[in-house]
Amino acid sequence: MSSVTSNIESVLNEERVFPPPEDFSRNAGIKSEEEYERLRAEAHDSPETFWARMAEEIHWFKKWDTVLEWNLPHAKWFVGGKTNISYNCLDRHLPTWRRNKAAIIWEGEPGEQRTLTYQQLHTEVCRFANVLKRAGIERGDRVALYLPLIPELAIAMLACARLGATHSVIFGGFSSTALIDRINDAGCKLVVTADGGWRRGSEVKLKAAVDEALKQTPTVKGCIVVRRTGARVSMQMGRDYWWHELMETVDSNCAAEELDSEHPLYILYTSGTTGKPKGILHTTAGYLLQCHLTCKWVFDLKDEDIYWCTADIGWVTGHSYVVYGPLSNGTTVLMYEGAPNYPEPDRFWQIIERHRVNIFYTAPTAIRAFIKWGEHWPLKHDLSSLRLLGTVGEPINPEAWMWYREIIGKARCPIVDTWWQTETGAIMISPVPGATPTKPGSATKPLPGIEVDVMTRSGKTVGPNEGGYLVIKRPWPSMVRTIWGDDERYRKQYWSEIEGVYFAGDGARCDKDGYFWIMGRVDDVINVSGHRLGTAEVESALVSHEAVAESAVVARPDELKGSAIVAFVTLEGTHKASDDLKEELRRHVAKEIGALARPDEIRFTDQLPKTRSGKIMRRLLREIATSGSIAGDVTTLEDFSVLEKLRTEEE
Ligand code: WT7
Repeated sequence: MSSVTSNIESVLNEERVFPPPEDFSRNAGIKSEEEYERLRAEAHDSPETFWARMAEEIHWFKKWDTVLEWNLPHAKWFVGGKTNISYNCLDRHLPTWRRNKAAIIWEGEPGEQRTLTYQQLHTEVCRFANVLKRAGIERGDRVALYLPLIPELAIAMLACARLGATHSVIFGGFSSTALIDRINDAGCKLVVTADGGWRRGSEVKLKAAVDEALKQTPTVKGCIVVRRTGARVSMQMGRDYWWHELMETVDSNCAAEELDSEHPLYILYTSGTTGKPKGILHTTAGYLLQCHLTCKWVFDLKDEDIYWCTADIGWVTGHSYVVYGPLSNGTTVLMYEGAPNYPEPDRFWQIIERHRVNIFYTAPTAIRAFIKWGEHWPLKHDLSSLRLLGTVGEPINPEAWMWYREIIGKARCPIVDTWWQTETGAIMISPVPGATPTKPGSATKPLPGIEVDVMTRSGKTVGPNEGGYLVIKRPWPSMVRTIWGDDERYRKQYWSEIEGVYFAGDGARCDKDGYFWIMGRVDDVINVSGHRLGTAEVESALVSHEAVAESAVVARPDELKGSAIVAFVTLEGTHKASDDLKEELRRHVAKEIGALARPDEIRFTDQLPKTRSGKIMRRLLREIATSGSIAGDVTTLEDFSVLEKLRTEEE
């Protein structure tokens, strides 16, 4: 255990190490730890020269004059350069054999399939860009995209980027209220939506939500509607147009605009478990460069690969690793519209088998659901095409990591646990699969060019294995540029907590080998008898018990200890809730971590409240544990019935 002088105590002790499989390293882009450390050293010693060398990999209409202008907290990368991300994702592949390669293989939830080659995707994007132009969209205008996970979403993003219009993708699961806030905050001129989308067999009525929202969004002049489900929708004359009708009347050529490196590419509102959503602004060249490089390094992309990132395009993972990163690398991207358990809990494994997916990137929350549904579902399928597995979004507990490795990867596929944020734009800490030995539960080391540290509140680097705040010490090309319309909040939130560095808001520790262990959001940290514990570690200990499927740990104010630990626990299929089991779990945590972390209270529940991106909303659990009711904002909650159940289970 770490010393009491640290800020956040780390109690997880994981000793297993898995070196990259030899045959994987032999065929990898980066083949050894030495090769990777050389890159890291080069980037560390002369970052600007390093990034300039890397930037040769993307297409420029005009090269930059200055690599970086850094006036804390504002960075400008590749100043004076001109490029276009849509050009880099499409046009660049057309003079090569990739022209006829599948860019997108899409599967709808009801089972339809569509494939678009790079040439076909290029044509669709050009046509939609012409549609946008005709609708009066110009460079710098904001366009809201509220669509299901269908190819038209990627087409619309690439069409906006082609013209220099700034897109704001709003996740299709959000309500009309969330839509109003986001459309108004960005001042969007146009909304692109669909009649509806499919989720777990029922129709999500997107157009109806847009109709509701557009009553309160004065900047919106028009609405373009994709026909997806075929449901009847109301179309307002002079405002609403069908996508397919507009696409028939335009030319299929549209040159990509030559845009400044710092041209605003998109705004994306963070899912955030607390507070008002923030419009994270990303710009063009630096974002493109880092999506491109990290995709290549971390997923070790090969031209033959079928790559599947299961994230919705409505989140940053979908922006960077479904659309921009893989397409700029000329990769074949698999997209699936629907739920993992529709019609049955083996839909993902079916898709992997059917399309022979090679690279699979998903979230710990999904992995925990797979564990809960039972391993007989994946075991029914031939997953031998897989060669690499990835995770993102939360700390993954070692138990889930081992299950992923053994049941899905058959102990053959390396796992890349990738730490990053909406604000970082691209992966920051991750194994490079042919080079980095992995440890279950650690995102391992920062990528080349990324200077990460763990500090105290006062900005002092902590010692090995001491917990603290995760910070980034130098600007990086794909970093957030500001919070849309609120630069002061940008400065405060990220650059004022600890002087001179970017404050990620996560707790972490770095072990003696330089491996980072993310301990969860610092607002999820609990303070017991003056010791601050990361909730993720207590949760890991609980999940390591055979009866536990998932858990969320929160603090309840306690006169004696400062905080008492309350653990919400869902059980694996065959296990039954009982007082004996509660006692056993409390003992189990005490044994795994120490008496300090023993939960004061265990509550069994069928489900945990999550955001639509799958993050557990500990804030709500905290309220339930403390006062028995919820007063705060719940608009990002995925399933409201969970709250009702939690309340009644309490009685
Ligand atoms: C927060 C960012 C980045 C795409 C998805 C979420 C947590 C993310 C990991 C990981 C531990 C992780 C952090 C981070 N997180 N990846 N590999 N290990 N924690 O994007 O909604 O901006 O959330 O997700 O707490 O700060 P986001």
